[in-house]
Amino acid sequence: MGKKKRVKIRKLLERGEEVPEVLVMGWVRTRRDSKGGFSFIEINDGSCLSNLQIIADHKIEGFPGVAMKLHAGSCIGVIGKLVQSMGKGQNVELQADAIEVYGPADTEEYPLQKKHHSFEFLREIAHLRPRTNTFGAVMRVRNRLAYSIHTFFQDRGFVYLNTPIITTSDCEGAGEMFQVTTLNLANPPLDEAGIDYTQDFFGEKTSLTVSGQLEGEVYALALSEIYTFGPTFRAENSNTSRHLAEFWMVEPEMAFYDLEDNIDLAEDFIRYLFSDVLEHCSEDLEFFNRRIDKTLLERHKGIVENRFERIPYSEAVHLLEKSKHKFVYSVEWGCNLQSEHERYLSEEVFEKPVVIFNYPDTIKPFYMKANEDGETVCAMDVLLPRLGEIIGGSQREDNYEVLAKRMKEKELDPSHYQWYLDLRKFGSAPHSGFGLGFERLVQFVTGMENIRDVIPFPRTPKHARF
Ligand code: 4AD
Ligand code: MG
Repeated sequence: MGKKKRVKIRKLLERGEEVPEVLVMGWVRTRRDSKGGFSFIEINDGSCLSNLQIIADHKIEGFPGVAMKLHAGSCIGVIGKLVQSMGKGQNVELQADAIEVYGPADTEEYPLQKKHHSFEFLREIAHLRPRTNTFGAVMRVRNRLAYSIHTFFQDRGFVYLNTPIITTSDCEGAGEMFQVTTLNLANPPLDEAGIDYTQDFFGEKTSLTVSGQLEGEVYALALSEIYTFGPTFRAENSNTSRHLAEFWMVEPEMAFYDLEDNIDLAEDFIRYLFSDVLEHCSEDLEFFNRRIDKTLLERHKGIVENRFERIPYSEAVHLLEKSKHKFVYSVEWGCNLQSEHERYLSEEVFEKPVVIFNYPDTIKPFYMKANEDGETVCAMDVLLPRLGEIIGGSQREDNYEVLAKRMKEKELDPSHYQWYLDLRKFGSAPHSGFGLGFERLVQFVTGMENIRDVIPFPRTPKHARF
């Protein structure tokens, strides 16, 4: 059996043609036996949502030896004849000539026995949950989205850039960084100021990055259009269904773009991703539409077909203030919008994605370009119905003096950011960029309620082990 080339189930089902002899391999999902001396075994190899049905005549050579091992969870290889199926639910099925068991799974112990396990339960067995329909589908969709993110930018001549994971700068200025150190925490070296970081591995205090943006700007101001796509880390203690401590972010950064160009790109980007995933993941998305959220496909088509709403922050606040809706957090000009506000605007008021721009400078990081009104900055957030914020971005401050002043106001240590100021000293250019939270995108596309269920191994407060 080993010498023959395996064919993936997806290929066989897509073709739907009879094949005189074929080898498939996969994990048993279900098995039932008929009185006439046949077993019906459904196997899945992850190449698509559908299983392949195997029909095993109990008279085939060696069957008694494997019969007891063909239960849910076992991994098997089957050689047989692919024929048109008489039964419902599949167009072809495999009549087994020979079955080999690679790895049996004890029926008593294998945890995935029931048809429907709760997502909470499945999170406890993160090493086995990929063998369920839902997680297989989530990861195929996630994979396609990653592919089409690269395609979108590559087709437009953007350069894919890898920015560092270990850094000394706090891009978002929120102080939510995980420290990286090799010092002995039980007995760290001390100086007058506290811990003596000159003795640490890098000779100074370092952390895991919260964003690749600042380094992305360096390369945008040389290669004009770049994008990053990598892991980012935030030690924010928010136990919500939309926050992870380790998540993936896509960050394009473009020289010669103003805020409007930036918003145009963000909108094109999201609409491109949705139309691509609708085309290439239809089987999985139909599954989510059936099982997770019955309005999913309708919403996705709405995103592809309609322009996003664009409103300034002041107008958003105005709409929220005059609304009769009861919010947990009250709204006034200058406040941070909470996800209840963001969702209200996109779900109730506009019923489509909304871009809010020109936020007060007091609630945004140091690097955003100041507007002439002296109060707001060229910031923009893209909000999706059901989810809230998926993208945050801005035009960057490109004036040396203005940026230096803002850094002082926000109490940044200038010694860590001299290189960043230098970009404004030597050949500064108007430039902009944004960050898209990859898991939030996967969440929205699949309709999954909890962000922990769209990343293979979620990292959240009090949870890092598997
Ligand atoms: O709005 P944020 O904080 O923006 C930045 O980091 C900028 N430096 C991006 C840029 O301009 N290049 O984060 C960007 C996006 C958010 O809109 C959200 O989708 C996602 O990252 N995000 C998270 N996703 C999961 N878990 C978290 N804890 C997240 N924090 C932000
Ligand atoms: Mg943000």
